[in-house]
Amino acid sequence: MSVSTADARAQHAGSRHLPPATNAAQTPILALENVTKSFGGFVAVRDVSVDFAEGGVYGIIGPNGAGKTTLFNLLSGFLKPTSGRLKHRGDDVTKLSAERIARRGVVRSFQITSIFANLTIAENLVLPIQRREEGGTGFLSRSRWQETHGEEIDDILNQVGIPAEWRDRPANALPYGLKRSLELGISLAARPELLLLDEPTAGMTVQDIKRITDLIGRISAGRTVIVVEHNLGVIADLAKEIVVMQQGQVLTRGPYDAVRRDQRVIDAYLGTRGAHGHA
Ligand SMILES: Nc1ncnc2c1ncn2[C@@H]1O[C@H](COP(=O)(O)OP(=O)(O)O)[C@@H](O)[C@H]1O
Ligand SMILES: [Mg+2]
Repeated sequence: MSVSTADARAQHAGSRHLPPATNAAQTPILALENVTKSFGGFVAVRDVSVDFAEGGVYGIIGPNGAGKTTLFNLLSGFLKPTSGRLKHRGDDVTKLSAERIARRGVVRSFQITSIFANLTIAENLVLPIQRREEGGTGFLSRSRWQETHGEEIDDILNQVGIPAEWRDRPANALPYGLKRSLELGISLAARPELLLLDEPTAGMTVQDIKRITDLIGRISAGRTVIVVEHNLGVIADLAKEIVVMQQGQVLTRGPYDAVRRDQRVIDAYLGTRGAHGHA
């Protein structure tokens, strides 16, 4: 079967999704390979292989105790696997400290406890900028950094929806939902290529959930975001792909619409009460 060059060209031009020219483009930005994590005798994550291509939002969902937070900590290097490997852009980073992994652009958002309540909102953003620029040597004073990076600080505040004129207020004065926003801002100040978020909407009001979801959508432009969520609805519109965990393993992954209709996923969420009479 011979195909004329003209036909081949036409076919080629007609395919909208050309394969990447180089292998590098196909290398996942982050991957776990055959990772198991045990705590004492308890296996929280069992032989999981999962990878994430660069760009867009991924959701990791699953019922309580499925191993989502453990997976999250393994992906960010805060937990080391009992066995298996963590790879960043194809490099084995299993043995690197979380700090070193963060310097490669893989940053996790911390919980509110990472906010210094007695520092101002701006000072809280100066710290990660300082760490990013000078490796935290303390060469320049905080106020000097605040002067030289004022625009960036205001820009981050804008992005996360905190009024820039509040920059000199103590972080403590922020209401809960905006503290979570500041926490996101602190992560953004590190200029992550890949941002990992563990239940960013936990404990939030409906309005705050909407605000944070919109915010995640905005900050995902030009970077990869992996969001762990208990609540499927929160990431339904955001995530291009959803990884479903159950009992320490990946049950399935795919676009929201496919995952939502998957009977195994429905059963996992219904748990032992199980699927309305199905065996
Ligand atoms: N540090 C730990 N020590 C012992 N068991 C743990 C530890 N962390 C998590 N686990 C157990 O591992 C399982 C998965 O936990 P986790 O990853 O927090 O699940 P999820 O975030 O999906 O709710 C749970 O049964 C939990 O009790
Ligand atoms: Mg969790």
